[in-house]
Amino acid sequence: MKPIREQLLGDLARAGSAHEVEQVRIRYLGRKGQITTLAKNTDFRRMSPDERREFGRQLNELKQLAESRIAEAFEAVRSRTVAEPAAGKVDLTLPGTGHRVGCLHPISLVQMELEDIFQGMGFMVLTGPEVETEYYNFDALNIPADHPARDMQDTFWLTNGMLLRTHTSANQVRVLERFGAPLRAIFPGRCFRYEAMDASHENSFYQLEGLLVDRDISVANLIAVMKALLSEVFHRDVTVRLRPGFFPFVEPGFELDCQCLICRGKGCSTCKSTGWLELIPCGLVHPRVLEYGRIDTSQYSGFAFGLGLTRLAMMKFGIPDIRLFNSGDVRFYEQFPAAV
Ligand code: DAH
Repeated sequence: MKPIREQLLGDLARAGSAHEVEQVRIRYLGRKGQITTLAKNTDFRRMSPDERREFGRQLNELKQLAESRIAEAFEAVRSRTVAEPAAGKVDLTLPGTGHRVGCLHPISLVQMELEDIFQGMGFMVLTGPEVETEYYNFDALNIPADHPARDMQDTFWLTNGMLLRTHTSANQVRVLERFGAPLRAIFPGRCFRYEAMDASHENSFYQLEGLLVDRDISVANLIAVMKALLSEVFHRDVTVRLRPGFFPFVEPGFELDCQCLICRGKGCSTCKSTGWLELIPCGLVHPRVLEYGRIDTSQYSGFAFGLGLTRLAMMKFGIPDIRLFNSGDVRFYEQFPAAV
């Protein structure tokens, strides 16, 4: 009887599901089970009354032990299993497969941070269409069909005469038409240009356009907002300078440079030894653009800027190659902390 007892306990220890425990029960206590048949196959006539009594006692003990251990085993698998596994095929007691937690794209991180900063200064966050009309992308921005500025933006034209917007400035007149003055808005988004790709050129990239229209707006307001923005993005005071820049939709137009954050103006490889980084093209909105937007130019003026989000993300995180953004390589995306 001892070998049966050992075997039973071993079988129960291996039984991991209700189905397997039931198999053990049948093997030992079923109609043809080992314990049930033990009594039947024993020849009691050969035993003395004492031996018979002793045999009966041990058999009862074994049976009781089997019953209680099997009941315990059922209870154990039941409490480990939330629901009864479907015909023993799904074992819910196995450890689960973990889920990888996703992360935000570095451009999304920079975009969200800028949205926060601008919302703090009272700007609305808007979006516009990526497939745009020639009118909003060019004409309404004072870039007529024969203007050489069109050639500077290699355009993906669609067969229906529309185009993929080459800059977020395309939203300026849409926003003016819709909201009128006074107005403070930013519109981040994806832009497209028919460019040969290299470490700093992509055929799709992100910009963040800003537009402020109000009474008595001057270049001083523009500089103040740009400085506030840059010191928040880079978490330090930044020195900026304006150079003249030509864009048909602003007058005057500027290139806003920021003193190189790596060498602090001394000259290094990032700023190509100039001490300055070209960051934000901007200017006072051309009256003709305001007129296209049906704004009364005797009352209102404004400033606009077009910030390269992709470029800013490269500078903020020290990303050397623009092609990494669209590489699809998760190892790249996972490096950027959500709290920037
Ligand atoms: N849209 C221009 C570009 O993509 C950038 C730009 C320049 C935007 C001056 C502006 C601005 O709002 O005022 O090249």
